[in-house]
Amino acid sequence: VDSQALRNQFPVLAHTAYLNAGTDGPLAQAAVRAGTEALALASERGRALEHFEQRKEAAERLRAAYAEALGCTTAEVALTTCTTDGLATVLDGLAWRPGEEILTSDEEHPGLLGPLAGVRERYGVQIRLAPFAELAAEVGPQTKLVACSHVSWMTGSLAPAALAELEVPVLLDGAQGVGAVPVDVSSLGCAAYAGAGQKWLCGPDGIGMLYVGERLRERLSVIRRGYGNLLDPGAGLDARLHEDCRRFDSPALSAETLATALAGVQTLAAFGWPAVHARGRELAQLLAERLRRRGRTVLERGPTTLVSFSSPDPEGERAALAERGVVLRDVPGKPWLRASVGAWNDEGDLDRLLAGLLG
Ligand SMILES: Cc1ncc(COP(=O)(O)O)c(C=O)c1O
Repeated sequence: VDSQALRNQFPVLAHTAYLNAGTDGPLAQAAVRAGTEALALASERGRALEHFEQRKEAAERLRAAYAEALGCTTAEVALTTCTTDGLATVLDGLAWRPGEEILTSDEEHPGLLGPLAGVRERYGVQIRLAPFAELAAEVGPQTKLVACSHVSWMTGSLAPAALAELEVPVLLDGAQGVGAVPVDVSSLGCAAYAGAGQKWLCGPDGIGMLYVGERLRERLSVIRRGYGNLLDPGAGLDARLHEDCRRFDSPALSAETLATALAGVQTLAAFGWPAVHARGRELAQLLAERLRRRGRTVLERGPTTLVSFSSPDPEGERAALAERGVVLRDVPGKPWLRASVGAWNDEGDLDRLLAGLLG
């Protein structure tokens, strides 16, 4: 990667050590320009047929860019509003019977836990929690689905590779995966993978994606249907669903959201995904080593872009760092801070974080 050229795409990095892509990625100049142009066009020309056609074209281009990031075909990708939206589309669309079990881990995000609690409440499904690293071995006779992170938002560790060998379908929460680390849905062996557009793919808030493999697609009901999900909406009540994953698209994704998201993902893809992934991973590893040398405990992690480390006062230290232009987050309920390190960061950002630590 020409790291300086990549860095120059993101205005926030001119003054801030922005280490918070696990919450929201930095926005590229090109992305903001594309979103602004979409709005300007709608404002100048009004929003008639042409506007809807442009919106549809932007959606298809974005679907293709996301499919590339996931290692699948465009037919296997739905556009959603966020990770949570995609997770809920899968969990709500399965036919649950009381007593059936979903196995999940004890370090999941509310974005997965919320939809899980929803199916427990509505269908009497049992939700069983096991340690993240032991999930594959914990599958039991009642387990109908494993639902867990691809990359843990708390520690940056990777889901166990053995999940790929399971008979039961696996739903991966890829909020901290896609864009940050290589994703190949086939080798992950997952039935579905839900991701965020606004984090590691540097899109605006309000965009995400959901991969659904063919076997699962056949048995997944489409709970929420609008004209965008229909092959022939003019057929009224008899309209059929799209055969491909457009059937799971969220409604009303705006032209400006799609345009911003597309330019965001293209900004990164232009530098080559393998190089983008390698740079983020290597910088994160370097930060982990330097934090350890400073006497901080770094949580056990994988080859990912998240680095969680001990802090004597996470909220106070986060606020003190923010005052010095270093942006990261604390992990709720844990004595840790979490730095998100992307290919757009540099060693100067890491130096600023280390220099700003309270002790
Ligand atoms: C592991 C994980 N899952 C889900 C979410 C929720 O993501 P979204 O806002 O895209 O629904 C997050 C966001 O921080 C996350 O880290």
